[in-house]
Amino acid sequence: MNFWAGKKIVLIICGGIAAYRAIDLIRSLRKEGAVVTVVATKSALEFVGKLSLQALSSEPVHSDLFTPAMSDAMDHIHLTKNADLVVIAPATANLLAKMAAGMADDLTSSMLLAYNGPLLAAPAMNTRMWQHSATQRNVQQLKSDGVEFINPSSGSLACGEDGEGRLAAIEEIIEAGRSLLSKKILKGHRLLITAGPTHEALDPVRYIANHSTGKMGWSICRAALRAGAEVVLIHGPVNMEPPHGAESRRVTSAQEMFTNSIEAWQRGCSGAILTAAVGDYRPLHPKAGKIKKDPANPELALTLTANPDILATLAKESGGKVVVGFAAETGNALELGREKMVRKGCDLLVINDLLDPKSGFGTDTNQVTLLYGDGREESWPLLSKDMVAEKLIQAIAIMLNK
Ligand code: C5P
Repeated sequence: MNFWAGKKIVLIICGGIAAYRAIDLIRSLRKEGAVVTVVATKSALEFVGKLSLQALSSEPVHSDLFTPAMSDAMDHIHLTKNADLVVIAPATANLLAKMAAGMADDLTSSMLLAYNGPLLAAPAMNTRMWQHSATQRNVQQLKSDGVEFINPSSGSLACGEDGEGRLAAIEEIIEAGRSLLSKKILKGHRLLITAGPTHEALDPVRYIANHSTGKMGWSICRAALRAGAEVVLIHGPVNMEPPHGAESRRVTSAQEMFTNSIEAWQRGCSGAILTAAVGDYRPLHPKAGKIKKDPANPELALTLTANPDILATLAKESGGKVVVGFAAETGNALELGREKMVRKGCDLLVINDLLDPKSGFGTDTNQVTLLYGDGREESWPLLSKDMVAEKLIQAIAIMLNK
């Protein structure tokens, strides 16, 4: 089941130019199955039309303390009563100041003063307004009052200036909300996660690689962060930004992935989840210059040599830490997985069959079987990679917290 399905979100929109981006936030949350109730300040409605907000949320839009959208004169109390989460996006300097001071002079501020549940603020404003000591003081105050923040990003602002102040990306706001609602079952743990493919150079132009996109590793990284873990993500070349909050390092070859992973492991991790599709072999003598075509000879022989095995090395030196591997096979997955489990000596091996079109490289779904070090085996139905990651993190948390 989707995490957001049926969750009740109250979205407070303040009057800043970024108010138009709240429209995307409503659409994305509704696409995920959430029920979104919009509360807009008077100035927010100068930037976005009430009708658009109403049409997109399929709910009445609330904005006035004294003219309730429904026949309820107690909007400021009732609107948040059954809310799973309140999100303020964009949050203006003005509303943050009113919240920090405990003011209640309109619907939004009164509502927020009467609410003590999970609250996420996504500020957006001009750089100097954001960096002003008054705003920063208010943010600190609100953080110590328990408000969660997703900070603005840097870039070109609507006012024509460049700097910090842009509303965070919609996916990041949604992820921060999900994190706020998640149980911190991995608090105090530091995890090493590897993800993506490796590129093994033949010459300065060409390489041997595989089709891994890093999707499974990214989902696991996000699930681990949500569960409160610190994450060191060592990943190969992929087309995605590392998840917000992970300490990440991009590498190219298996050897680089190996040295970086060992270094991170020795810095102190309580577990490793190795999802990377590491090249098993690399060219023994990569050429310094581009390999030229020889018209007289249609064949070209390459000599490869084995790469170090990160999983087997960490499992051998685990000293009680939890080491989890992945095995993508093409047919006979269970049998080959069982052999691999013995060979690698890890605590948990997650196997999937690449011949299944709904599992493996680049798909959003995966059907996996779990082989535990103690001999237990568990097959899960076809699930989204996101759900596989969520369930895996729960299984790993049990192992880590034993
Ligand atoms: O042996 P095979 O590549 O099939 O094993 C897959 C598992 O081993 C994955 O967890 C992968 O990240 C890991 N692995 C590794 N280092 C290698 C090769 C694979 O950590 N050199």
